Amino acid sequence: MCGIVGYVGRSEAAPILLDGLRRLEYRGYDSAGVAIVNGKGVETRKCAGRIAELANLMAEQPPSGNYGISHTRWATHGKVTDDNAHPHFDASGKLALVHNGVIENYQALKEELIRDGDADFVSDTDTEVLAHLIGKLYDTSGRGNGNTPPQSEKSRLVAAVRAALQQVIGTYGIAVVHSDIPDFMIGARRGSPLVLGVGKEENFLASDVSAIVAYTRDAVYLNDFDIVAVERDRFEISSLAGGGADYRVSKVEFTAEDIGKGDFPHYMLKEIFEQPNSVRDAMRGRLSSEECSAKLGGLNMTPAELRDVERIVVTGCGTALHAGRIGEYLIEQLAQVPTEAEFASEFRHRNTPMIGNTLVFAISQSGETADTLGALRESKRKGYRTLGICNNVASTIARESDGGVYMHAGPEIGVAATKSFTSQVVILTLVALLLGRMRHLSTADGSEIIEALEALPGQIEQVLKLSDSIKAVAKKYASANGMLFFGRQHNYPVALEAALKLKEITYLFAEGHPSAELKHGIIALIRPDLPSVFIAPDDAVFSKNLNNMEQVKARKGPIICVTSDGCAEKLKGIADDVISVPRTLDFISPILTVIPLQLFAYHLAVELGRDVDKPRNLAKSVTVE
Ligand code: M6R
Repeated sequence: MCGIVGYVGRSEAAPILLDGLRRLEYRGYDSAGVAIVNGKGVETRKCAGRIAELANLMAEQPPSGNYGISHTRWATHGKVTDDNAHPHFDASGKLALVHNGVIENYQALKEELIRDGDADFVSDTDTEVLAHLIGKLYDTSGRGNGNTPPQSEKSRLVAAVRAALQQVIGTYGIAVVHSDIPDFMIGARRGSPLVLGVGKEENFLASDVSAIVAYTRDAVYLNDFDIVAVERDRFEISSLAGGGADYRVSKVEFTAEDIGKGDFPHYMLKEIFEQPNSVRDAMRGRLSSEECSAKLGGLNMTPAELRDVERIVVTGCGTALHAGRIGEYLIEQLAQVPTEAEFASEFRHRNTPMIGNTLVFAISQSGETADTLGALRESKRKGYRTLGICNNVASTIARESDGGVYMHAGPEIGVAATKSFTSQVVILTLVALLLGRMRHLSTADGSEIIEALEALPGQIEQVLKLSDSIKAVAKKYASANGMLFFGRQHNYPVALEAALKLKEITYLFAEGHPSAELKHGIIALIRPDLPSVFIAPDDAVFSKNLNNMEQVKARKGPIICVTSDGCAEKLKGIADDVISVPRTLDFISPILTVIPLQLFAYHLAVELGRDVDKPRNLAKSVTVE
């Protein structure tokens, strides 16, 4: 949700900033811009559109200088126009600022600045207010008088940023430069991620380490309310309230190669094909054949505490919540602990009754989703033990939770979440197994589940071999205006997830429903040009799904069915197209049934000429409410 890159060093800033922005484009791609400073002043290039358009602009008139800031925007306040593209400037035109987040009280601040004659606004953004406010405070304070000596320009700018941010209600990750202060930039964060990259005679700021990992793997993940003053060979981190702040330089756990597309045409396809490994990595070292259970030390809970859990709430957004909904089925089935999956955006504002021993899981690939973070904070505020299931180990959710389980799925760049979903479901299966073995699950049950989990990577390899035949099915339905997805029990959330995948990358209308709901209204939609996709492995409810398919068939609705190996015969004359996945335990089947549907959405989107990795209006990490 907007990406920021900043650089101070000895190299030309332009190519570094552009390269970083390309890596952050998944965070937003409505407009982009750079402000690079040299001895003559600030050189700005910005435009509506993708980074490629900014690159063209920069190629026509290359900006030169050794420090600067840049931004790729996901619009919140103000349309997608050149004027609304970041960076934004103060009244002097010397101070440039980029921002990720939302300034909620921008209107009041703006009115005050206009009333005092301090600013002429050229954009409709909330961000421009912050640039003017910092600029005004910088120009009017700290110059010294009879009683106080003048401060250095650097200290004055830090003080101005601090004073301005103290007036702000909302969220921000910002980077600021001033053309009167050479080789210097300031970063600050509250609610939006910001990382300091520590290099040799060069330092970086970025919303995400992927932007700078090609230059340095030493990073400081800034905390909320940190302000960092960055020079070529030093940096100083202080807190918004004044005074020092704690920090740690960590090694980034992946390299620039890890975040390339390799030989794949899209990140999404690469990430779908990474699932044998990401699923293996999600359970690596976490299965105990001896105890016939899972080992999840990161939960930071004793066996007694685990046994005393009386209720679980699983929260998240989008794909992460769909994984959570599968967790709801899994935990109740294997451990008999009442579990509820709840939209993070609803949970955080509603007064859900919670009994004493409620355990809350916040699931998030990025670990930065604003609604999920809000839910985590609300749960912690109420005193509930709140655990994270995150992929990004340095993320805010990972850091603020009381414990949790990392996905270890590797960077997920495609806006459509794929491998993170299967990793989340694997982890929730481990949680269910652990809680189940603390209660009534026998060693034989535990061993059977472990065996099924260990077979998954090989089975996923089998499913991936179907990619070409799934492509052919996708082509066959490319003229459809929409699709319905149906599943029961553990595969009902797969129907939700498959519909979400289709919507976000093909822009086709799609809905997911429990199969049995058909007859309660949805059946009115069935017609020959609206395909229904059933997720019906050979499980306890297979015959029920078959009945529902018959109801669709009777109304001439085309049917695609994802089922288990060996079931095609039973679907003859009912399903028009059958995709078979290997057999496994009923409650583990979602990890296999979802993959053909990820591939289906992918191939259909390519067939329709969509921008698979950067779908319309979306951003990978949603750090605003
Ligand atoms: O990073 P998170 O897992 O918290 O993201 C949650 C959702 O924004 C995300 O899953 C979104 O729904 C994806 N675009 C779905 O493909």
